[in-house]
Amino acid sequence: MLTLDPGSLSHRERYFLLIGSIVPRPIAFVSTVSGNGTTNVAPFSYFNGISSTPPLLSVAIGSRDGNPKDSWRNIEETGEFVVNIVHEGIFEKMVAASADFPPDISEFDETGLTPVPSERVTPPRVKESPIQLECVLHKLVKLGDPATPTALVIGEIVLAHVRNELYLEHGHIDPEGLRAIGRMGRQDYVRTRDRFERKRPRS
Ligand SMILES: Cc1cc2nc3c(=O)[nH]c(=O)nc-3n(C[C@H](O)[C@H](O)[C@H](O)COP(=O)(O)O)c2cc1C
Repeated sequence: MLTLDPGSLSHRERYFLLIGSIVPRPIAFVSTVSGNGTTNVAPFSYFNGISSTPPLLSVAIGSRDGNPKDSWRNIEETGEFVVNIVHEGIFEKMVAASADFPPDISEFDETGLTPVPSERVTPPRVKESPIQLECVLHKLVKLGDPATPTALVIGEIVLAHVRNELYLEHGHIDPEGLRAIGRMGRQDYVRTRDRFERKRPRS
C-alpha cells in the first residue's frame, strides 16, 4: 500500500488522486446567465446530491488563473442556475462546452445546444438534456487558497423537468432510457448500461 500525504503532492498529483479515486462521478451540465445577459453552459463533475428534503445538490467550481470560472461568477451574480443531466446523446457537445471560451461568448452558440426558457429561474435549460433541474443558490462556500479558490455551490432544486418516458411508476427514473454518462480519471468516461440490482437487507 502507498501512503500519500496530500500536502506533499503537487496540485496535479492531488487532482489525479481525487479524480481517479472518486469514480464514477455524475456530470452537472450547468447553465447560467451573466449579469449582462450572456448565457453560459459548462460541465462539472465535482457534483452530487446532498439531501432530498429539502432538495439540495452541490457543484464545486474552481478558478482559472486565480479568478472564478464564468459559471461561478454568474451564479454569484444572479443566485440561479440549472443543472442539466448529461446523457449519451449530448456527450460530444458537453465536451465541446468545456473549452475555455471568453465570458462574452455563449457556449449555446458554440455547441449548437438549444436554450429553452426556465420557469422559475432566469438561466435557460438545455433542451437536449433529458432531465433539467432549476436551482436557486442556497449557499456558496469559498474554499482553499485565495490563489486557486474553489466555490462549493449548494443549490436548492425549485423545479425539475423530466422527459415523460423516463418518469416511471412511483416516481422512479428509468436508468435505461436516461443513458447517463459519468466521469472517471484521466480523460475517461463511463456509460451507465451495466447495472445490477441488490435489495438492502431488512434489518
Ligand atoms: C466532464 C468534465 C467535468 C468537469 N468538472 C469540473 C469540476 O468539477 N470543477 C471545475 O472547476 N471544472 C470542471 N471541468 C472544467 C470546466 O468545465 C471548464 O473549466 C469550463 O471551461 C468552465 O466553464 P466556465 O468558465 O464557463 O464556467 C470539467 C470539465 C469536464 C469536461
